[in-house]
Amino acid sequence: MKARTPQVLLATFIIALLAASSAAAQPSAGPMGLHIAYGADPKTSMTVMFLLPSGMEDTAWSAGAPVVIQFGTSASLGEQLPVFERPAPYAQPWIPYAVALTGLQPGTTYHYRVGSDVAGWSSIETFKTAPAAPEPFTVTVWGDQGPGQYATMPSTDTSEKAADKVVAQALKVAPDLHIHPGDLSYDDWDGWHRTVEPLAKNVPFMVSLGNHDGDEERELRQYEARMVMPTPPGVHYYGFTYGNVRFVSLDTEAWCVLRASTSNPYAGAHYGCTPEPNEAQLEFIRKEFQAARDDPSIDFLVPFFHKPIVSDGRHGPTQGLVKWWLPLLDEFKPELVLQAHDHLYERSHPVVNFSVDPLGSVYLVSGGAGKSLYAFRNATPPAWEAARSASYHLVSLRFDGQVINGTAIGADGAVLDTFQVSSLRSRMANATPPETPHVSSPVPGVVWAGLVLALSAVLSRRGTRKAHM
Ligand SMILES: [Fe+2]
Repeated sequence: MKARTPQVLLATFIIALLAASSAAAQPSAGPMGLHIAYGADPKTSMTVMFLLPSGMEDTAWSAGAPVVIQFGTSASLGEQLPVFERPAPYAQPWIPYAVALTGLQPGTTYHYRVGSDVAGWSSIETFKTAPAAPEPFTVTVWGDQGPGQYATMPSTDTSEKAADKVVAQALKVAPDLHIHPGDLSYDDWDGWHRTVEPLAKNVPFMVSLGNHDGDEERELRQYEARMVMPTPPGVHYYGFTYGNVRFVSLDTEAWCVLRASTSNPYAGAHYGCTPEPNEAQLEFIRKEFQAARDDPSIDFLVPFFHKPIVSDGRHGPTQGLVKWWLPLLDEFKPELVLQAHDHLYERSHPVVNFSVDPLGSVYLVSGGAGKSLYAFRNATPPAWEAARSASYHLVSLRFDGQVINGTAIGADGAVLDTFQVSSLRSRMANATPPETPHVSSPVPGVVWAGLVLALSAVLSRRGTRKAHM
């Protein structure tokens, strides 16, 4: 073997040093958990959120390559804003970032990427702002997800988790926005972000606070750092308008207050629920519902929240909400009420105070997006129930003029249920009894009752019960 000269050894050392230096300058693996949500006005605002390894903000600034978002109406981007860490009071390997984009154009597709030459870059993704004028659009819904369990338990199919299958079905639906009525991650945030990122990086995720998102201070701080919704700090209820629909996200944990707890392993504090209503939220609900019903441009009122009011699942009706919220729901009759917490699918007939009424609200429970499934309380469905399925699933809602066309889709793609809900305005117009000023009916109430019963039958037939398990 030929001996190396000192010159060759020196050159080898320099090359090795340069290689090591080059490796040190390589960017990190880049952002993960990219997701978006509307700001206060879905037509002109979008919040972009993601995660970077702990310490990356300081490293990037020190290297002169701060973390930014680049965006524009074409893939060449063009605009740039700095992005900063969210408050994260607990040490963790991945730190959430968020940036609010405002002044956007309605109904416009934007291209964007986040990162820096030091932090690494995301791929270039797209989002679309809400249209300036109403047009048909599609919403997907699911709650109670987490990173997910395998589709069969005990698992015989470990190839793909139920949550991944649900997301895959949602990608086929290609919604304009997604509603997540709570219990997002079950405290595995990194796993949840990776699960939903294929959809959430392009489709705004509008969420409600679930009990597993906030029944301990540590969980609540994580939720608040990661899920930036159009609310003031510390408030977890809000409304937003998309097209002809007013969506209202409510906080079923809002009457829960921070209490000292010696059993809490984190901050010595726990969110315990008291029997008192949250007066501020009650006032918010009334104002939101009244404003929606007074606005001629709003055809649908759709509240969504975590713990159910109308449900035959394991948890069943939440008594505090039956007492405080149900009277408001019955008064303003939202067309559709989206709930979760019971890990199954269930749809009611139009109801007022649990009684079938053609002018009432349809309640959905969609809590089967990945966590273990629940059985129903009663083998015999209640009279108010229209469909049920203890299955992993998502719900697709197509808003088109005065009608919502709904489909419950199993994680395997099977159609579990189809239904139709008309706007209250159109139902009331159709149910108005004909004026007969010159003909006195011997029993006027009989005419009205007959119309109501006929409409009830029509609405009932529109819903197709596919499964009773
Ligand atoms: Fe829950």
